[in-house]
Amino acid sequence: MANIITRTADGVMDWFNARAPGFMPVYRKHMSEYYAPKNFNIWYIFGVLSIVVLVNQILTGIFLTMHFKPSAAEAFASVEYIMRDVEWGWLIRYMHSTGASLFFIVVYIHMFRGLMYGSYQKPRELVWILGMLIYLVLMAEAFLGYVLPWGQMSFWGAKVIISLFGAIPVIGNGLTEWIMGDYLPSDATLNRFFALHVIALPLVLLLLVVLHIFALHEVGSNNPDGVEIKKGPKGNRWSPTAPADGVPFHPYYTVKDGFYVGGFLIIAAFIVFFAPAMGGWFLEHDNFSEANKLVTPAHIKPVWYYTPYYAMLRVVPDKLGGVLVMFGAIAILFLVPWLDRAKVKSYRYRGLLSKVLLGVFAICFVWLGKIGAGPGTDPVETIVGRFLTAFYFLFFLTMPIWTKIDKTKPVPERVTTHD
Ligand code: HEM
Repeated sequence: MANIITRTADGVMDWFNARAPGFMPVYRKHMSEYYAPKNFNIWYIFGVLSIVVLVNQILTGIFLTMHFKPSAAEAFASVEYIMRDVEWGWLIRYMHSTGASLFFIVVYIHMFRGLMYGSYQKPRELVWILGMLIYLVLMAEAFLGYVLPWGQMSFWGAKVIISLFGAIPVIGNGLTEWIMGDYLPSDATLNRFFALHVIALPLVLLLLVVLHIFALHEVGSNNPDGVEIKKGPKGNRWSPTAPADGVPFHPYYTVKDGFYVGGFLIIAAFIVFFAPAMGGWFLEHDNFSEANKLVTPAHIKPVWYYTPYYAMLRVVPDKLGGVLVMFGAIAILFLVPWLDRAKVKSYRYRGLLSKVLLGVFAICFVWLGKIGAGPGTDPVETIVGRFLTAFYFLFFLTMPIWTKIDKTKPVPERVTTHD
């Protein structure tokens, strides 16, 4: 029996390869003959988890689109209909809305891993740049999605964020009106945001993710030691020319990642079933009331993943200045590959100064997030927010100096494994 199955499977593969000879080389290059460093640790699963969440967003999004009505008159009620009347609609909706926050949790950890192990350094600058483009598109995608249910925070959040473009001299007001298609967020705004959210940006996102992974596979993965395995000795169990410290991605990492994906899905299911709104952090309370252009919510604030930047916007007294600081905070991340002048990649082999600064930077980012999520009325918090914003920029602007003067430890020739 087993013999018949194997022979049939081989036959099907031969038939397929004769008709699509280009397929197997791609599979080999990216899976069975992609030699990944054998010392990947848990920080290395967040790229794969990002793909898992992306797939979840696309699949659940398709089902939501089947029942959602993209009009200002019907959108809110159609979401309520999905939650109450559509079979399993509540699950699909929560998988999508909670999925958005999980996406950012996973992507922020993925980015932090990149900072920790210097994964953006030569030759992976392009991988980082493509990652940053993904991050930008992801923020736009999540913003557009948040407007769709047409709740109070959808409406007022859209109004505040789109009005920021009004700070641009000369063209600002015209641009704001052009984006909204009206003087306020309205039916026209909701319609175009729907089109962008369900098709335009997901396509761009998918394309960027494919390019991100292709760019990575051209140069090969970095690892927690920051050792370039392609420059090290050659020859392993599978190939005499492959890096000695590499193992085939499939089956070694597909199995390992599969295990972690299982764990992640269990945690994600707990959140979706027991705390989908996460006490107002993932879905804000105000968004459970329909949009009303005559009633402003007490505190207009974005979802948690934007709040560090929102805090920066608010602590700067001038509107244009605030907008520039906010966009500057994201733009500066693009430059990290050129700001870091350290001779070693991984923080494992960097000095105390670099480790402390990176740790303080992470705390500063989270703290800004907390300030941005608050009402923004406490003057002491505003001052603290200004210091944190200054530190955020100084961290990057002085990076060429402290990465150069900080002591480094010798990097081993081969990757280290802790078994
Ligand atoms: C939808 C979002 C994203 C997806 C699906 C994704 C996917 C992946 C995957 C599968 C890998 C290889 C596995 C790994 O090293 O974890 C990877 C590596 C990498 N990603 Fe992303 N990524 C995303 C966003 C980002 C962002 C926002 C950045 C940073 C700005 C980034 C920077 C990197 C870097 C530097 C590497 C190479 C890491 C190394 O070799 O050490 N990625 N990404």
